[in-house]
Amino acid sequence: MRGKFITLEGPEGSGKSTQAKMLIRRLADCGIEAVYTREPGGTALGEEIRNILQHNQAGEAPCERAELLLFEASRNQLIEKVIRPNLEKGVWVICDRFMDSTAAYQGYGRGLPVNEIEAINRFTVNKVVPDLTLLLDLEVAAGFKRIAQRYLALGETADRFEQEDRSFHERVRAGYLKLAEKEPERFRIINAAQEPDAVAVSIWDTVNDVVRQSI
Ligand code: TMP
Repeated sequence: MRGKFITLEGPEGSGKSTQAKMLIRRLADCGIEAVYTREPGGTALGEEIRNILQHNQAGEAPCERAELLLFEASRNQLIEKVIRPNLEKGVWVICDRFMDSTAAYQGYGRGLPVNEIEAINRFTVNKVVPDLTLLLDLEVAAGFKRIAQRYLALGETADRFEQEDRSFHERVRAGYLKLAEKEPERFRIINAAQEPDAVAVSIWDTVNDVVRQSI
């Protein structure tokens, strides 16, 4: 049986990576093998692209459409090298950001046409679409507060997207909510303002509810 494909989406600091890893542990406890991966990145080529996108590694910021296409290139590589082969083997894939990030950030955030992005996404994913997308929703200010704590703890600095102004991130958050409204079958909204353990319980209940037959 094909594995399930679950994506986590949401604004900055919404706890996607932590929750993805908690979900994988929970699945393992039920005897379900699942792999974690992320976008941009997740393959050798994808991680190179991630560096270019986040830290101007090429020495200049990509133009808007170039930025979008770099995300799409990383995505297609990840699909063909990691996501599709695992799903075909029956392994579940938990992906930290996926195609909806492009609609939210490059579409609603930067202002590129969302319907054109959706068409490009369809081309890129080549029929590999998530069975379930968990939107970890959180107020922008709360997300940035968490990020600031992470910087202090790990000594990291803000990347190119985190440096965008507040209104950009407000558009991204609102955009995500619009995407969820357009596709209620695939999306579930999770309140990410809760404590991590409570968020994990909401996620587990949702996964059980939506893909119950497989657990
Ligand atoms: P993150 O993995 O730490 O969340 O960083 C990825 C950044 O890239 C984040 O700010 C969102 C942004 N992004 C886009 O703008 N478009 C995309 O398609 C993806 C996957 C990420």
